Amino acid sequence: MGLKNTITEHGTLAKALHWLVAIGLFALIYLGLQQAEMERGDARSSIRFIHASIAAIVLLLMTVRIVWRFMNDVPAHPEGMPAWQRTISTLVHWGLYITVFVQLTAGAMMNGTGGRGIPVFGLFTIAVPVAKNSDAHEWWEEVHEVAWWPVAILIVVHILGALYNHFIVKNDVLRRMTVGVK
Ligand code: HEM
Ligand code: HEM
Repeated sequence: MGLKNTITEHGTLAKALHWLVAIGLFALIYLGLQQAEMERGDARSSIRFIHASIAAIVLLLMTVRIVWRFMNDVPAHPEGMPAWQRTISTLVHWGLYITVFVQLTAGAMMNGTGGRGIPVFGLFTIAVPVAKNSDAHEWWEEVHEVAWWPVAILIVVHILGALYNHFIVKNDVLRRMTVGVK
């Protein structure tokens, strides 16, 4: 198993990026919802700080991932997979890329229009080059409170699809993103 993808299997780099982004998104949704129920104060601020820091890492990983995707083969759908499942799989994958970037943009714009950058674990802060504006801030905040829903719904459909392929159809789709094909 090499670094690059082949026509039948994801390579090590694609696998690593896939699973790091997956962990990052679970953490972001959890921390985002956690702080939403909290009163203003130090505890909420530190959760927001960690949330935004993880989001900055996810932004980096997602960018590398998209570039890498165009630099090598993408494993083909398994033989015998019905056309409707191929279509749903492709739509869900692109839907995930798009909705994750929308959510990242909304988060970054929310901070930027609020007069803040994106903190990265206290190491440095990524400046967001937009003017401070409270109307725009509220608008991006509303987008951010809504746009994680499509991300979460697509993740659920995506996981169900992976489990369906593995346990019911019994093909290599889950294996080629994890331990490797038989
Ligand atoms: C794909 C990446 C992201 C996901 C999945 C995500 C998820 C969430 C969720 C689920 C919430 C709670 C929303 C609610 O109150 O209903 C939230 C809130 C928040 N997020 Fe994110 N987020 C992401 C990226 C970012 C980024 C890049 C930033 C900016 C640095 C950010 C900053 C915030 C802030 C400040 C809140 C609190 C907003 C409020 O309570 O009004 N997020 N996020
Ligand atoms: C427990 C959680 C997850 C499981 C079991 C899972 C499983 C898989 C599997 C088996 C594949 C390979 C599909 C194939 O080779 O045809 C895949 C690809 C993919 N996954 Fe996940 N995944 C999970 C979480 C996520 C999350 C959170 C995201 C959000 C970004 C995501 C985005 C993607 C994308 C975009 C692809 C397509 C890769 C490409 O060809 O460009 N996955 N996933």
